[in-house]
Amino acid sequence: MHAVRRYAFEDKAADYRALAAELGALLAGERDLIANAANTAALLYEALPEVNWAGFYFLRGQELVVGPFQGKPACVRIALGRGVCGTAAAERRTLLVPDVHAFPGHIACDSASRAELVVPLQCADELVGVLDLDSPRSGRFDAEDALGVEALAERFVSASHIPSARAAR
Ligand code: SME
Repeated sequence: MHAVRRYAFEDKAADYRALAAELGALLAGERDLIANAANTAALLYEALPEVNWAGFYFLRGQELVVGPFQGKPACVRIALGRGVCGTAAAERRTLLVPDVHAFPGHIACDSASRAELVVPLQCADELVGVLDLDSPRSGRFDAEDALGVEALAERFVSASHIPSARAAR
């Protein structure tokens, strides 16, 4: 059993560094993408305060398909360019949305969600999917959270075997 540490996130940079080390230890010795995604989602959901959804969407053709997550059941398929997730994926950049109601085209999976942070996952320049966090509190995520979660996403990608989309074509 992995006992998840509770972080106060008063010093966000330090706590994200500690959480990244914890994630590295949790994933050590395992390369399976689904197993690692499941444990990453569970760790983030437990460790991050005020988060009501934490999980993955993976790229399948021209759309994102939901992967392992914690939180309420979510919409399964999101076209590239749609919603916060599809926009982050299409533009391959982190999207920090303080108020989802102000984001045109936001896809509501849980009506309690107010803020969202979506980080694209990339491996050797190929888009793999996104890591998505939702919070019931407007403005929950800031630039430090974005940096911290980007580092967590990189740990997840480097720890996992990512089947190459090019090889599959
Ligand atoms: N809100 C996201 C959809 C995914 S859920 O939040 C889990 C979006 O607009 O892309």
